[in-house]
Amino acid sequence: MTKRSVVIGVGHYLPERVVPNSEFEASLDTSDEWIRSRSGIERRHFAAEGETTSDLATYAAQAALADAGLEPGDLDAIILATSTADLTFPSAATMVQARLEMTTGFAFDVQAVCAGFIYALSNANAMILSGQVKRVMVIGAETFSRIMDWTDRSTCVLFGDGAGALILEAQDGAGTAEDRGILAVDLNSDGRYKDLLYVDGGVSTGTSGYLRMQGNQVFRHAVEKLAKTAETALERAGLTPGDVDWIVPHQANIRIIRGTAKKMGLSMDKVVVTVQDHGNTSAASIPLALSVGKARGQIKQGDLVVTEAIGGGLAWGAVVLRW
Ligand code: UT7
Repeated sequence: MTKRSVVIGVGHYLPERVVPNSEFEASLDTSDEWIRSRSGIERRHFAAEGETTSDLATYAAQAALADAGLEPGDLDAIILATSTADLTFPSAATMVQARLEMTTGFAFDVQAVCAGFIYALSNANAMILSGQVKRVMVIGAETFSRIMDWTDRSTCVLFGDGAGALILEAQDGAGTAEDRGILAVDLNSDGRYKDLLYVDGGVSTGTSGYLRMQGNQVFRHAVEKLAKTAETALERAGLTPGDVDWIVPHQANIRIIRGTAKKMGLSMDKVVVTVQDHGNTSAASIPLALSVGKARGQIKQGDLVVTEAIGGGLAWGAVVLRW
């Protein structure tokens, strides 16, 4: 028998306020046409004043618990991927733990920017496989609207707020690629590329700062690295792109999503796309897309799903799982 980390619940939350591209036309030299054609984004959600990442994460976690038919006390741990935690510390994960009235187990944040959910899944899977935990809530939640420079048209039109959550449970598998659960992981980072995508604030500056990005450089790395990490993870699972039912990519840019699918030889019918409605929600984008993909009836039990993401660091990676 092999232990597997199987998804037993999923949920998401999007803030109420929907902002169409046209809203930026009044204050910036931009257009709905430019944003749509260069990124695929049509609208995004922005958190209300006072609404924090841990708020969004708590609502997504509650939805995942309801989906699984579980209570917070049934969880052993919460792992929250975010780069926009409410405060420098404590972790947003412990704030969610408190909001859920979960007084047992443990909670912590993972910070790998847009690849954060992939890193959090990898952490959760390792803890399950080692026998340390049986059930883990893995959340991706962000309020990137808080770190936007609203005068920078090359970044502020691209990002949005949201949260998604999965519950993973230790189950027995046969040790084959037919098992449900996480089958393989590939993680990478290369800190030499820090200046391509970073926030210019933090404890060293005494400010929370704004996101800075050399978009076309990040774009080049994304197209080159995403198909490769997805194929590496598939190979580790003894699978090939031909076995894939759904690619659930980080939702940054429809052109990156299309380019990655093309490199893997997969048609866009096999890709869950939410970028038009959510924009880039960083670590929240994959769990949001998984939750929406399931709700749309795209992702079904037994489907082979590949998730992949790249972001600040640069940090990138992929997870192969059978739903
Ligand atoms: O999630 C983390 C990972 N992040 C990403 O994956 C983002 C990756 N990058 C991208 O998605 C794309 O590079 C962007 C959508 C950010 C930009 O698309 P692009 O095709 O790479 O455009 P560009 O940056 O090369 O800019 C082309 C032109 C520039 O004008 P000039 O220099 O050619 O005159 C920009 O100033 O578009 C201009 N531009 C805009 N024009 C209208 C930049 N932003 C805007 C805007 N509206 N909002």
